[in-house]
Amino acid sequence: MAEIGRDIDRAAVLLASGKVVAIPTETVYGLAGNAYDVNGISRIFEVKDRPSFNPLIVHTSSLNKIRNFVKEIPQVARDLAEALWPGPLTLLLQRNEIIPDLVTAGSHLVAVRIPNHPLTLDLLSAIEFPLAAPSANPFGYISPTNAQHVQEQLGDKVPYILDGGPSAIGIESTIIGFDEYGQAEVYRFGGTPLEEIEEIVGPLNMNLNAARKPQAPGMLKSHYAPNTQLLLCDIAATIPRMNANKTGVLSFNKMYEGVPAQNQRTLSITGDLHEAAHELFATMRDLDNMGLQIILAEEVPDTGLGKAINDRLRRAAETRIL
Ligand code: TXA
Ligand code: MG
Repeated sequence: MAEIGRDIDRAAVLLASGKVVAIPTETVYGLAGNAYDVNGISRIFEVKDRPSFNPLIVHTSSLNKIRNFVKEIPQVARDLAEALWPGPLTLLLQRNEIIPDLVTAGSHLVAVRIPNHPLTLDLLSAIEFPLAAPSANPFGYISPTNAQHVQEQLGDKVPYILDGGPSAIGIESTIIGFDEYGQAEVYRFGGTPLEEIEEIVGPLNMNLNAARKPQAPGMLKSHYAPNTQLLLCDIAATIPRMNANKTGVLSFNKMYEGVPAQNQRTLSITGDLHEAAHELFATMRDLDNMGLQIILAEEVPDTGLGKAINDRLRRAAETRIL
């Protein structure tokens, strides 16, 4: 089992020697390694069982430090950074040679963010290198939003989990890249609502397939997914066709007739999308551990954080290939 604690110095020493450490962020827990050290990076892929064509996000604590490993920070990126960092936003920038190919899967772009978590910001300020960190879950499974989630799944593979309490946002960062004209475009829905980004850069184009494209066709299984089959559907209409005692319900804000109450979870009884995002992954895990045959889920309103929640629900429901 991994040691769980709040000791930044211990985390820093482990990371400097090429080990991986789980770190808290406001979005989800990350599995961190020294972004300049191929040993640390390789260990991340190994621990997560992650295919090496899937690039990692690099975390650091200031714009000045970012200048050490990118070619330039265009004005639009600077505007976004000043308004929204530290926060659940990742920017794709031109990397320089100091970032190993393994971090970016060979791309000339590196994904960068300054996370908004006090403990992790202290750690990032204390070390000389940035941290590459994917979500700290086995590849394809639900992302962890507290230290215990990491312990349950990767505890035997990581020496240390930095415990920063439950993740405040609960859903991964929004990823923004820039097209050949320098216009911002969306690569992944996430914890920063698009409306907040559009206030700064104007209307956004979508480039959602670029981040998802399975570069080895047939090899990507569903993502953010529980082991129990999850069906995104009209819950009320589907319940009558199910074995009620073996059916779970993951609803936005209400309970349904026809399935025992203990098999049902609402994301936010008041219909608050922030609360729903915060609860999403822990609720999916909870239902996944109940020995059910199927989980019936529904989409939430498609505005603000709702876009990111619906994206995760759709991917959790995708047919498994592996
Ligand atoms: O909130 C988050 O972003 C969390 C925390 C730990 O910071 N991290 C996270 O990492 O969600 P991960 O590995 O689960 O997702 C990283 C995704 C990749 O799957 C890919 O879609 C995109 O970021 N990405 C990373 N580098 C990229 C690049 N160079 N070009 C395009 N997409 C990239
Ligand atoms: Mg992930």
